[in-house]
Order: sequence, then structure tokens, then C-alpha cells
Amino acid sequence: MLIEAIAQMQQWSEAMRTQGNIIGLVPTMGFLHEGHCALIKTAAQECSVVITTVFVNPLQFGPSEDFARYPRDLERDIQLATQAGATVVFAPTVEHMYPAGYAAMIDPGPIAEKFEGIFRPGHFRGVATVVAKLFNITKPHVAYFGQKDYQQTLVISQLIRDLNFDIRMRVLPTVRQDDGLALSSRNVYLSPQERQQATILYRALQEAEYAIRQGERRRETINTLLRHTIEAGCPEIKIEYAAAATAETLEEPEFFASGSRVVLLLAVRLGTARLIDNSLVEVP
Ligand code: PAJ
Repeated sequence: MLIEAIAQMQQWSEAMRTQGNIIGLVPTMGFLHEGHCALIKTAAQECSVVITTVFVNPLQFGPSEDFARYPRDLERDIQLATQAGATVVFAPTVEHMYPAGYAAMIDPGPIAEKFEGIFRPGHFRGVATVVAKLFNITKPHVAYFGQKDYQQTLVISQLIRDLNFDIRMRVLPTVRQDDGLALSSRNVYLSPQERQQATILYRALQEAEYAIRQGERRRETINTLLRHTIEAGCPEIKIEYAAAATAETLEEPEFFASGSRVVLLLAVRLGTARLIDNSLVEVP
């Protein structure tokens, strides 16, 4: 079922709650792939009704970013979401989400300023704002997010904690193609040759993971390994950041402590695409 009106979505969710349902929410920007569908499938297993939202949120795109050309196909999204177990697809218009005079913004604080925040200023303010709106519109008990957007998951958990949203957050692993490339709606921007070259990202993550498991704990050394693996494998790639950080806080200590969790974060440009990936490693 497709719902486009905000008030209708709120009424539907209210009725579902009154009937004792557990509402799962999977927010997306559409052009669904197996990564999104894995979130919807898990939500359908864990909740009695599932809302998938499809909304390309202009607030989280910078002026020179790809908002206008971001891939869109609502009919296909409705089919895929329904097949994966969504009860409702909520797809509002930009005019209804941000009517004339709209002004409120949520600033997630310092966690939003590093890494993605440096290269996409204001991005997480846009994400936090739209996700807060979607929470209020869909009234979920549980909300599902992908590890693919690692920093985003930290921003959302900050949002839920600080603003007392009565919502449980679930983060599910990144779904990859057989050669390791993380699924992304933006992979359609890659030429066949770039698509091949993009596999270096996962290989760089694996190299760095291996080094950490072998005992490497120096942050600069891990960063250099990530960077060199990408540069050696594909000189056409422009690295925005390739960095190891403390998983929970994104702090960057000189050495990672034994028993701590490290996140390896990558953002690169390849052709006209901007790709991000990450992986989590426990320091032995
Ligand atoms: P979008 O990029 O469409 O992603 C929607 C959700 O799917 C996010 O939680 C994202 O982390 C997850 N996802 C994307 N690719 C994945 C993959 N390969 N494996 C597992 N999960 C994956 O993220 C957004 O939209 C927006 O910022 C949004 C939260 C909807 C706010 O506008």
C-alpha cells in the first residue's frame, strides 16, 4: 500500500498502535537494492507491520551535490519493498515535508562534524531533521538502519538518546556484491570500468582489518595502509578520507587500546560518483 499524505500516515500508524501492532520503520531515499531489502526483511520478521519510507531529502544534499540526478523509481520501489515484507510505502512530496516557511533544524552536535561532516557540511543536520520528522509521522517502535552509513548510525542514536524518542534502533550489516562492493543506489553512476575499480575499497578495508588482527594498533600506520592500498590499486580514485577511529565516538587516538573497537572509514570519488564504505574491527 502506498501512502503519500502525512496526516494519513500518522492516522494509519496511530490505528496500528491502538490495535497492538509493533511498527518497524525502514527510512530510505528509494531506488531500493538488496541492502535496503535486507533491512525490510528483518523488520518484517521482528515487527507486525513495516513502514518503508521513500523520500529523497533535499535538506541533506549540498548545493553542488547530486539531489537532482539522484536515481528515482517509485513504482519499482513499491514492488521491491512489498516483496521484502513492507506493509506500507510512505512517499511524501518535498512540498509537504518542507512547506513554505519551514525552518526548524536539528543539529546533532560534534559527532556530525567529523569525516562526512567535513566533506558534506550540513549533511547530518539534514539527516537528523528528516529522520526526526519521519519518526513523528510514522510513530515506529523499532527503526532499522544499515551499517553502510556508519557515521549516520551514530548520529541517529545520538538523536534518539538526546531527544528521548521512544524508539529502539537496530543496525544491520552492510550487504555487498560478490566482489565486495557495498550495494548503494549511487553505484548506478559508475561506468563498467569504474565499477571494477571500486572493488579496491573493500580490499583496502580487508588489508587494514588483517593488519589490526595481526597486532597493528598505530592509527597513522593503519591510515597509511588504507590510503596506499587504494592509491596503488586505483590511481584514478580521489580519497576524501581513509581513516581509523574509535568506533563508538569517532575519536582518533595515537594508538588503539587492546579490546577496543575500531571503525575503518572510507570516502572516495571515482568518476562522478562519491562512494563510502566502512568496517568494524575489534583490537586483539
Ligand atoms: P539510503 O541511502 O537510501 O539508505 C537507507 C538505509 O539503507 C540506510 O540505513 C542505509 O545505511 C541502508 N543501506 C544502504 N546501503 C546498504 C547496504 N549495502 N547494506 C545495508 N544497508 C544499507 O541513508 C539514507 O538513505 C538517508 O540518509 C535516510 C536515513 C533515509 C534519511 O534521508
